Amino acid sequence: MEVDRYERYWMWAATGMLVLFLGAIVLTALAGSAHPPSHVETIDPETLSIRGEFAAPGVTPRADGGVTVSMRAEMYVFRPEVIRVPAGTPVTFRITSPDVLHGFQIVGTNINVTVAPGYVSEVTTTFRRPGEYLVVCNEYCGLAHHLMQGKVIVEGAP
Ligand code: CUA
Repeated sequence: MEVDRYERYWMWAATGMLVLFLGAIVLTALAGSAHPPSHVETIDPETLSIRGEFAAPGVTPRADGGVTVSMRAEMYVFRPEVIRVPAGTPVTFRITSPDVLHGFQIVGTNINVTVAPGYVSEVTTTFRRPGEYLVVCNEYCGLAHHLMQGKVIVEGAP
């Protein structure tokens, strides 16, 4: 079969790019320990509001000096709505949903997780600067989705 010279070049170029990009994925996975979000922790969405960690959501100090924030994202509110955490301390957010898919985004930071019913989303950060941060839901969850927001208040000297 006769393949045009330029077409042949492009076929090789496309194959080369595939090898290059797949290689980059493998390399970063092995060398850089890069991986997709993998905190797979399941929970029963029907009982989480009644008993356990998420029945009384809030901020809990940990033995290692950090704090854990247990949260529920539900139609159409974050519980707790206002979260107070110290600056310069590792803060672990643990969030789950008893109803539908929600988002948890802290505006002005790189914290942005999906909150799916049946799963606990976990993310850890350290706030360097004290101040108020807006929390928004960025997954459409119903008629009042746009009203679903909260606040993180980072306290203390930097
Ligand atoms: Cu919750 Cu949109």
